[in-house]
Amino acid sequence: MKVIRDAKELPRASDIAFVPTMGALHAGHQSLIRRARQLTENVLVSAYINPLQFENKSDLANYPKTPLNDEELASEAGATYLWFPNENDLYPTGISEISAGEIGQKFEGASRTGHFNGVVTVVNALFSAVQPRWALFGEKDLQQLFLIKKMSEMLHPHISIVACETVRDVDGLALSSRNVRLNPSDREAAAVISRALKSAQGESELSTKLQSLREILSSEKRFALDYAEIVDGETFEIASETTIDQRAIVAGWINGVRLIDTMSMNSSRVNVLVSP
Ligand code: PAJ
Repeated sequence: MKVIRDAKELPRASDIAFVPTMGALHAGHQSLIRRARQLTENVLVSAYINPLQFENKSDLANYPKTPLNDEELASEAGATYLWFPNENDLYPTGISEISAGEIGQKFEGASRTGHFNGVVTVVNALFSAVQPRWALFGEKDLQQLFLIKKMSEMLHPHISIVACETVRDVDGLALSSRNVRLNPSDREAAAVISRALKSAQGESELSTKLQSLREILSSEKRFALDYAEIVDGETFEIASETTIDQRAIVAGWINGVRLIDTMSMNSSRVNVLVSP
């Protein structure tokens, strides 16, 4: 694997599969890299902590940084290139801000003002620099995936966006770079999120799905709920009984650590499990 620190060294192949990350890699990121490797031998991973998507300065300052471990995990999963971009690489002629539109202000965007504008702005810059054929994103960040797809359809119609399943720990908690900030008892409490999602998935009506989801989440006092909703995966509007692609989305905090998760309400798709 080649480590790239200067954008001039980026490969110019026509079949690049691109996995953008903020570093602090874990098995969730590795599953995206492995999936990319099934598409092509030219797998490029970027690791860049994007200040534009953090409205909270202490969250930005506390974001884990593990560059050596990132090299090891990216290489182990089959990355061909690992790129550590800097601001000049991304915005050679200055930042051109992209709006994530109305949906970008809902749910995750309502709690994190400007977050999705920052996400689509950096992903647009990354896409322009890398010019991949495919770009892979996790379903765990469902609203992000939705908004990146919209941005890409408009600005980078030649790039195929590939959605990848959520990788979970053995107790069901979706892997996240933020999980390392949970102490052992918080970590145990965090399992309530996937338990609630799974239980909602087992209900047959939209109303009982929502009821079950919210009831189980509220049973864990250490979990401070931000939102728990079921949306239409096609539009990201609140779902109705007749919505085909129902997706539950949940976010909240445990001891100040923000956690988000999502699950399809239609199928009992098995999520990938990893051992700690
Ligand atoms: P980051 O949180 O590092 O995530 C990078 C990619 O890994 C995203 O597509 C995310 O959805 C995916 N991912 C994270 N946890 C996962 C899990 N448990 N299973 C499967 N995939 C998982 O998301 C970002 O970075 C940034 O917003 C970024 C898109 C890089 C823009 O800055």
